[in-house]
Amino acid sequence: MINNVDAIALLNKFIKTDKISNNVKISEQKGGLFNDVLKVEDEYKSWYLKKYLEQSTSKIFSPPKISPEIRSQLAYFVQKECYHLNKDIKTVPDLFIDVDENILIIEGVHHPITMIDLISQNSFKIEHIELISKTIARLHAGFSGNSEICNDPIYRNQEFRDFKLKLQYQNMAEQLEEKCSNLIYHLLSTYKSQYFTVLHGDLNSRNIVVNSITQEVGIIDFEQSHVGNPIYDITYFLCEVYISCLNFENSELLFKSVEAFLKTYMEYNPDFEIINYLEEMKMHLAVQIIYRFLGPSRDSWTFYINENRKNDIINYAKEMLVTKNEKHIDIFFQK
Ligand SMILES: Nc1ncnc2c1ncn2[C@@H]1O[C@H](COP(=O)(O)OP(=O)(O)O)[C@@H](O)[C@H]1O
Ligand SMILES: [Mg+2]
Repeated sequence: MINNVDAIALLNKFIKTDKISNNVKISEQKGGLFNDVLKVEDEYKSWYLKKYLEQSTSKIFSPPKISPEIRSQLAYFVQKECYHLNKDIKTVPDLFIDVDENILIIEGVHHPITMIDLISQNSFKIEHIELISKTIARLHAGFSGNSEICNDPIYRNQEFRDFKLKLQYQNMAEQLEEKCSNLIYHLLSTYKSQYFTVLHGDLNSRNIVVNSITQEVGIIDFEQSHVGNPIYDITYFLCEVYISCLNFENSELLFKSVEAFLKTYMEYNPDFEIINYLEEMKMHLAVQIIYRFLGPSRDSWTFYINENRKNDIINYAKEMLVTKNEKHIDIFFQK
């Protein structure tokens, strides 16, 4: 962990606009399975110092051993690009990198509540959904067709992608009945051949922070970026919206949220023909939902749901996986 004196020195080295006093509050952040995260704050501003570690400290995950240099640089490059692409709406915090120490210095979202807090209370807003969709669509559109970047090994990395796919797709397939697992294996092999654009790669509700006063959204934690099909990011995020709304039986919010997400997405990434991927999208969504109930980090995503409800939602997702699209994703395109 970075000590407090080093933390202040580091901030003063990179943040030129205002001098950081010794009166700041410094605290360790939860999470941090592959990284140490330290929050430094005064009355007006906060910063997060994220040090990339050599090894995972997790007991449940054994990720591939990719060097902290590569991981921090990948996260830095993609977040910085996404920051520039979304500067007008400020949905991605600015950041700096200390390449000697593999530390990112990230502007904090003020008055933060993590999106999981809103998801678990079914209290997110359509405005949040639209900002998230716009930001991600611009990221996808911004890198799409850039063959130099999409073929660059730092973005194209398959090691971490495949680790996640094994966890989320293959391991789920192994737990489910044959009808479901065959579909998942097929989906997995299709996904592995799709190198369309640079993705966020880990668009979960703990990597989205909302300013609880201004309602501004901040998307962080780009270290699992890889080149893939945009529907991966889209469904990674939407699966949590589905889970929340199914749990709270809030079909109106579900409909409005998915509609808003897809409409905004198509506006900001019009070259991606989402309409050609509806069946795949529905299946990714189903697998992503199932993973959040059966995967090793299930308590992080479904802690707020009671056991009976969990089974209902898993069954809903299984049904979604094996039946034709019409009532799940197609409905958003029928107007
Ligand atoms: N810039 C930021 N603004 C507000 N909160 C942040 C910021 N960066 C990190 N956090 C908080 O710290 C947590 C861990 O940071 P993150 O970069 O996601 O690391 P990890 O790789 O451990 O998931 C986040 O879930 C969020 O709650
Ligand atoms: Mg994170």
